[in-house]
Amino acid sequence: MNTARHIAIIMDGNGRWAKQRGMKRIKGHERGAEVVRNLTVFAADHPEIEVLTLYAFSTENWKRPGMEVDFLMRLLKNYLEKETETYLRNGVRFETIGDLSRFSPALQKQIEKTKEITKDFTRLTQVLALNYGSMDEIARSAARVCEQNLPITAETLGAELESARFGPVDILLRTGGEQRLSNFLLWQSAYAELFFSPTLWPDFTTEELEEIIAQFKTRHRRFGGI
Ligand code: IPE
Ligand code: IPE
Ligand code: MG
Repeated sequence: MNTARHIAIIMDGNGRWAKQRGMKRIKGHERGAEVVRNLTVFAADHPEIEVLTLYAFSTENWKRPGMEVDFLMRLLKNYLEKETETYLRNGVRFETIGDLSRFSPALQKQIEKTKEITKDFTRLTQVLALNYGSMDEIARSAARVCEQNLPITAETLGAELESARFGPVDILLRTGGEQRLSNFLLWQSAYAELFFSPTLWPDFTTEELEEIIAQFKTRHRRFGGI
C-alpha cells in the first residue's frame, strides 16, 4: 500500500477566487492562509503524513505588481506571528526551502524565530517554499558540488539540493485548475503521483485532501519496475 509520507501542494487560485466575488486579489490570499492553517492541523493529525511542502511564493512571483508582493510579504510575517501557537499546539516543525536573502530583514528574522521555536517537533514538518524555484535550487546544488570538486552525478546533485532533507514527494497536488508544475520541486517529484484539482485554493478542504489520499492508495507505483 502506498504511503503518503510527503505531500507537496501548489496552492493556486487565490486571485481568481477573489475576482469571482468582486474582491481584490489580496482577499484571496488572506482566505488562502486560513486553508493553510486547517490543512496543517489535519496533516499533523494524520498518522502517515510526515512532510507537507507548500508552494507559497515562487522565484517568478516577483513579477507581480509591487502592491501584491508587499501584501504577500506582510501576510507571511503576520501568519508566522499569529500561527506560532498552532505550530506549538500541534507539534509542527516549521521549515523553508528557497532563497530567503531577498526578503526584508524583519521577515527573515521572523522566519528564523519560528524555525527555532519549533525545531524539536516531530508530528509534522511543514515546509514553506518561499522565493523558491526548482531550477534555482538545482543550479545552486550544482555550484556546491563543483565547489567541493565532486563529480556531477544524480547522487551528488540530489544530495546537495536544499529540499533533499525532506525526501521524495509522494503526492504532488495543484489546485486551481491549471495543469503545470510552475518550477516546483522538479527533482523531488521525479516519481510523485500527480493530482490536479479544479478547486480554487481558498475553497480547498481537508475532505478533498482525504479523497486524494484515498485515490493515491489505489494507484500502482512502479518506479520503473514492473
Ligand atoms: C496562488 O494564487 C498564490 C500565489 C502564487 C502566491 P494566485 O495568486 O496565483 O491565484 P490565481 O492563479 O491568480 O487565481
Ligand atoms: C505557482 O502559481 C506559484 C505558487 C503557487 C506560489 P502561479 O500562479 O505563480 O503559477 P503560474 O504563473 O500560473 O504558472
Ligand atoms: Mg496562479
